[in-house]
Amino acid sequence: MHKPTLLEIFNHPKTQKYIQRSGVVHAIASSYHAFKIAQRFGVDPELACKAALLHDIGHYTWYRDGEWDFELYKANDIHAIKGAERAHKILIQLGEKRETAKEISLAILLHTDSYLPQGSLHLSPLQKVVKLADEADEEPNGNHHYRTIVHDKAVELILKLDNKIQESKGEKTFQQTS
Ligand SMILES: [Fe+2]
Repeated sequence: MHKPTLLEIFNHPKTQKYIQRSGVVHAIASSYHAFKIAQRFGVDPELACKAALLHDIGHYTWYRDGEWDFELYKANDIHAIKGAERAHKILIQLGEKRETAKEISLAILLHTDSYLPQGSLHLSPLQKVVKLADEADEEPNGNHHYRTIVHDKAVELILKLDNKIQESKGEKTFQQTS
């Protein structure tokens, strides 16, 4: 069973298709937050970073007359549900273990409760880490979705995080970023 790296996940055509909508910068920044927060919570940073990288790939673009329509978005958004399903498919295609793919998908499904009727969720430590990582990078008015980055810089940052994950697990660094 092949364990995909963050970079392999990032480079998957479906990731590339969907991650642009919600912003590559927000995805990468959330992954870096997830790495740090995972250590505080004693959670596997690899799962946390993978979930954080993919957490928003379920977004749909709610534009009306060329402008983002928040009312339309609030009423109809199910990005966590779509994201969990898309992430699961990508991870399985890349050879992730089924148990791990499910754990990551669940963390994506529960990273927000915006689509649920009121009530409180009981989150596992991994699910809490991904939710906090997302919130740590949020800006008012959804501005965190609009920051841009050139592809090479994104790849460099993701490689760095892959290495940090490997180092944190006491494994040999397997990729060089420079
Ligand atoms: Fe997010």
